[in-house]
Amino acid sequence: MVNSRTKPKIYVRKAKSSDKEAVFNFCRKTWSWGDYIPKVWDKWLKEKNSIVFVATINKVPVGISHLTIDKPSEVWLSGARTDPNYRRMGVATAITKKCLKYAQVRGAKIARLVTESNNKAAQRVLRKLGFQPITEFVEAKTENITKEVSENSRWAEVKDINSAWAYLQNSEVYRESAGLYTVLFHWYSLEKEDLEKFVKQRKVILHENSKGVDGLVLIDNASSREWREKSLQTCYIDGDYTAALDMLKFLKNHCYTIGIQKIYAFTCNYKPIVKALDKLGFEIDEPTDIVYAKKLV
Ligand SMILES: CC(C)(COP(=O)(O)OP(=O)(O)OC[C@H]1O[C@@H](n2cnc3c(N)ncnc32)[C@H](O)[C@@H]1OP(=O)(O)O)[C@@H](O)C(=O)NCCC(=O)NCCS
Repeated sequence: MVNSRTKPKIYVRKAKSSDKEAVFNFCRKTWSWGDYIPKVWDKWLKEKNSIVFVATINKVPVGISHLTIDKPSEVWLSGARTDPNYRRMGVATAITKKCLKYAQVRGAKIARLVTESNNKAAQRVLRKLGFQPITEFVEAKTENITKEVSENSRWAEVKDINSAWAYLQNSEVYRESAGLYTVLFHWYSLEKEDLEKFVKQRKVILHENSKGVDGLVLIDNASSREWREKSLQTCYIDGDYTAALDMLKFLKNHCYTIGIQKIYAFTCNYKPIVKALDKLGFEIDEPTDIVYAKKLV
């Protein structure tokens, strides 16, 4: 342990696999349930589009952070951890600055990350570093997968891409979501190419009224692969209460038909959508997820 008033010199470098033991040691009690870092460490160190930085004090690893380059212009930061014995000494600040520099040099224009609404320490660090909150997402889940009847929902097809995209361009929910969707706690910009990809993989539910598209839901099954369970997640939900309710019924019925046992619903915190989730028996989590961003100029 180092006395916080001494402000020791902090070095930041790329992580090595030999840092593993020290890192796992200080991550053991990050949260009451432990931490997910030991599960992802080996994968993070191998991934081509990502890098883990380690901060050291007197050559001992005391903090980490992970950066992923998602698209040439955007990076995602995750897994910021400081050894509890070395907090409030500028460790997270030093690693995040290194991440931002690394991203900037590679041409990224924006860095984003997520933190829970009750994580005051992380929020303070982020504000000090010039990050701004850009959207708030709600997580909900249900294992009550029932047979449902929907009325105006269906899978989107390639011919729907232009109208779905046009709908998003004028959508209040898309604006409130900061134009982002999420897969496994990682947020990405939702651009036309992304929508196309989802449609081609039959992962977009559309809702229509007499005037055309008035809602859509993007889904993904990465949770099934990663967590070895029969589950699906919503990555983005858009529409008013009626549209959201109908699309969620369509989704529940789809899951019922193919034997999915759990749905994780992620949506921006838009009241009519959250109300629709509640109506269908989804458990809504507290706290929420706050996505922060910083422009890199
Ligand atoms: C969040 C976390 C990474 C911060 O690490 P850190 O190395 O202590 O952060 P820094 O020393 O760089 O803090 C910079 C500033 O942020 C603010 N800050 C940091 N922790 C704070 C806290 N617990 N309470 C209030 N302000 C805090 C302070 O203004 C601090 O500057 P100061 O100490 O000169 O006042 C660390 O608390 C941690 O590992 N928490 C558990 C995991 C976690 O929450 N990770 C983030 C997930 S998004």
